Amino acid sequence: MTHSIVVLAGDGVGPEVSAQAVRVLEAVSSRANLGLEFEAALLGGAAIDAVGHPLPDETLAACKAASAVFLGAVGGPKWDTAPVEIRPEVGLLGLRKELGLFANLRPIKTIPALAAVSPLKNERLEGVDILVVRELTGGIYFGKRARSGSAAFDTCEYTVGEIERVCRAAARLARSRRGKITSIDKFNVLDTSRLWRETATRVFRSEFPDLEVEHLLVDAAAMHLLSRPADFDVMVTENMFGDILTDEASMLAGSMGLLPSASLGDGGPGLYEPIHGSAPDIAGQDAANPCGAILSAAMLLRHSCGADEAALAVEAAVDAVLGAGIRTRDIASAGQTAFGTTAFGQAVLERLAL
Ligand code: NAD
Ligand code: IPM
Ligand code: MN
Repeated sequence: MTHSIVVLAGDGVGPEVSAQAVRVLEAVSSRANLGLEFEAALLGGAAIDAVGHPLPDETLAACKAASAVFLGAVGGPKWDTAPVEIRPEVGLLGLRKELGLFANLRPIKTIPALAAVSPLKNERLEGVDILVVRELTGGIYFGKRARSGSAAFDTCEYTVGEIERVCRAAARLARSRRGKITSIDKFNVLDTSRLWRETATRVFRSEFPDLEVEHLLVDAAAMHLLSRPADFDVMVTENMFGDILTDEASMLAGSMGLLPSASLGDGGPGLYEPIHGSAPDIAGQDAANPCGAILSAAMLLRHSCGADEAALAVEAAVDAVLGAGIRTRDIASAGQTAFGTTAFGQAVLERLAL
């Protein structure tokens, strides 16, 4: 059986980290006989430069026809003055919406070898293993918005159906983990959050009575994430809260460059991307940490190819590299020589036991 993978390298460090992830996938494919086939396509600023639009029709058609899509990152200062309808980020949001990818899985696990890298006290990091399920195709990202003169507005809208499906997806995942779910909202202020809490409460009570359920307000959740991170199992929340909380949570692991993600819908191709952006401040220097991208490739193997063993082997190889003290610049200790993106990818390949 073959699996066709569309690779959207994107902008900034996107192509640098994607190259390492694809290298690992190629090695896995030939060693485990997975039949992965890769096709490159344009998204974001690279697509604007080439064809004048961040999500070309050709790219969308290729992604819809693929088994899975791998993305580096999009955006950067070069396109910050582009008209709002054709910013690089519009391409990514359009792709998520068109593929119906409503559940964005963002795992955060502390790696013992990196405990010293996190700004948090080591004892707080023991046993941290969180899965944030971020709603990805609704909320303020996709509501009506406009700008006129000296005023502007963005609206946040959610339907019961949108909340139910992401809460169910998160609850099923909680069942396969430690059986705890924390739903995050701002129900003391927002109507969408009142609908969120009502719906989440009903879904969990009626369909998942076996789960331990907690509800938190997002401002308090941002604090609890730092004060008691090991208490959380699955966290489910709306689009923008999930975006913000996961950048915060990356510091539990130690760097933005470490966290992977998988965006899934009801069947159809999944989209796999590190949670970080195009990191314009370090682009072109072979300095980006490719862990988030390589671990996203592992998620692709698990969720889109049913290749659990291969996924575990990739994760183990990354752990082994970090365990051996190999570091990119973002996670290196003072005075330590950092590996470049490519050399780090090579080190992962060398430890791939398949
Ligand atoms: P960013 O995630 O690109 O960078 C934030 C900080 O983290 C920077 O200091 C950067 O150097 C560091 N960082 C990020 N990835 C890293 C890696 N792999 N290794 C080491 N350090 C890393 O966020 P930003 O600077 O706010 O945004 C830059 C651009 O990226 C913007 O145009 C934004 O819209 C876009 N963006 C895209 C995505 C995506 O494509 N999924 C995600 C976030 C931001
Ligand atoms: C992310 C990014 C995107 C988001 C941007 C680039 C649209 O920050 O994937 O986390 O906000 O979803
Ligand atoms: Mn983000």
